[in-house]
Amino acid sequence: MENRRNFLKKSALGTLGVSTVMSCDTLNKTSSEAVFPRIISTWNHGLDANKKAWEVLKNGQGGLSAVEEGVKVTEADPNVRSVGLGGYPDREGIVTLDACIMDKNSNCGSVSYLQNIKHPISVARHVMEDTPHVMLSGSGALDFAISKGFKQENLLTEASKNDWIKWKEKSDYKPKINIENHDTISMLLIDENRDLYGACTTSGAAWKMHGRVGDSPIIGAGLFLDNEVGAAAATGLGEAIIKTSGSAMVVELMRQGHSPLEACKTIVDRISKIHMNSPEWEYLQVGFIALNKNGEYAGYSLRKGFNFSLQDEINKDLLIDAKFQI
Ligand code: GLY
Repeated sequence: MENRRNFLKKSALGTLGVSTVMSCDTLNKTSSEAVFPRIISTWNHGLDANKKAWEVLKNGQGGLSAVEEGVKVTEADPNVRSVGLGGYPDREGIVTLDACIMDKNSNCGSVSYLQNIKHPISVARHVMEDTPHVMLSGSGALDFAISKGFKQENLLTEASKNDWIKWKEKSDYKPKINIENHDTISMLLIDENRDLYGACTTSGAAWKMHGRVGDSPIIGAGLFLDNEVGAAAATGLGEAIIKTSGSAMVVELMRQGHSPLEACKTIVDRISKIHMNSPEWEYLQVGFIALNKNGEYAGYSLRKGFNFSLQDEINKDLLIDAKFQI
């Protein structure tokens, strides 16, 4: 208790207000402090998600429920146009959802190309807990969700429908995933026992081809964790993340002794090298967050604009600008 009090006194961050924004540089010292529990999530929509996850964790419901309930906040928010309700549709005007969840024992569940269900992350958890499989897709995932009591609803809001109608005028597919379109919510959590949990959910790239599945439901691409090492999750253009097994590689680099920042940067550099001379280079954005077994964390992206949210006992509602390559 005494140690903790001293730490709080020493830490200037202890007095920061709501939704403070800091750069990753400023936080290097803090990120190396072992503070448990700790939660990080992609983008600023992670702030509300983290808050909910924290509440669930503090209520004693455990890390898995914390990450599930946390990202459900974003899934239910019609103003987040890249996740769940209100997400941008594919080019046929249909909202399709991808999500996955993983626990400290490497159990995982996932759904892809799921329609009309507001909380794909909860369906993914049911896949993990109630089936012998890891992944269900499309109509099979929907049938399974209905069998578990999920209700079907229309997820295409008027705002997203209007944007889709406008997009169709030119039908130009250049998915800008950055400040304009925040993309996936990915959440990583380490609890007071230093056990790791993760969740990832999205409506995918706006105006994608019907049937397209991104990185977010793919264990190892959108999300990966190894409870002995750490956890990582991705945001950005799914195809680029899948091609490098991005999140799994970040975790493997941490296993080899790299810091979360070095690990994220190495994989972003690898992605950048692959795509540098390709047509998608002009709009490509990818970013990773990582959290290791010591509670150290980082975020890194290809382009400026990516940020991530942090919540622990010291930092409430902290939004951090990730370091970037270009
Ligand atoms: N990262 C989300 C997607 O590409 O679908």
